[in-house]
Amino acid sequence: MHIDGSTTIVGVFGAPVTHTASPAMHNAAFEALGMNWVYLAFHVDPRHLRTALQGAREMGLVGLNLTVPHKILALDCLDEIDPEARKVGAVNTIVIEKDKTRGFNTDGSGFLKAVKEDFNLSVKGKRVLVLGAGGAGRGIAVKCALDGAAKVIVANRTLAKIEPIAREIAGTKSEFQSLPLAPDAIGKVIQEVDLVVNATSVGLKEGDSLGLGPELFSPRQHVYDTIYRPAETQLLQVAERAGAKVANGLSMLLHQGAKAFEIWTKRKAPLAVMRRALRAAIYGDKS
Ligand code: ATR
Repeated sequence: MHIDGSTTIVGVFGAPVTHTASPAMHNAAFEALGMNWVYLAFHVDPRHLRTALQGAREMGLVGLNLTVPHKILALDCLDEIDPEARKVGAVNTIVIEKDKTRGFNTDGSGFLKAVKEDFNLSVKGKRVLVLGAGGAGRGIAVKCALDGAAKVIVANRTLAKIEPIAREIAGTKSEFQSLPLAPDAIGKVIQEVDLVVNATSVGLKEGDSLGLGPELFSPRQHVYDTIYRPAETQLLQVAERAGAKVANGLSMLLHQGAKAFEIWTKRKAPLAVMRRALRAAIYGDKS
């Protein structure tokens, strides 16, 4: 990588941000396309998001990603919000121009591309169960409804957090149901579901379990975990044992990043290069 006085800078704001694999993915893409761009990670305290955005603009950065805990906070700090990001209620990609900042959400479209790629599945006409109603769960649930899912069910530990998702999905043609995140409640609906998505953080830590047993899954189901580290959560192990098709969140990470890359650079993202860089950064996989 060659950095000089005319290198274009993009990056990610997060807290924490040290474990992000996005710099590896984007810098590999810039290098492959011979672009004089660099992607950096910045630890930004959520209390100072607005100031940091102003600073980025003054310093000539042209784009940013946002990760936890900034995705929702950013809605109040930007000049324009893309309609989809507004519906989803979160921004993960920002374009910085001289006179304005614009917020987008590429998580939802990244998720749809991921299930297409991993399962050859389109959510159109399908019944989807989303576990979790935080930033990721909301984005996935709303995007599935916008893309024509027949039914979206959201299960969450804190029921009140499902309300804004219910309101948003009420404006679509999808049927909606909310549930507590409990095995007995989930057991009552899971048989009718085509796609189960874990968008909670349960599974990140060794020994984490949502308490869902293999009897709840069947070979006709697809189970997607947005977690990619570890590569196989307990949920995926159980679902796979029951014969369900399973995939982890690496593909969503890749496709949300590729979409952000295309928004900033207006060039087609080199997917194979980006995937290889992610696998190397996350799993130490050099293949
Ligand atoms: P993200 O942006 O990754 O979605 P988030 O907004 O903090 O992160 O959301 C985390 C999700 O994981 C939420 O659905 C959260 O449930 P609550 O809304 O009840 O907090 C869920 N979650 C986190 N820890 C959990 C746990 N131990 N058991 C069940 N759900 C959990």
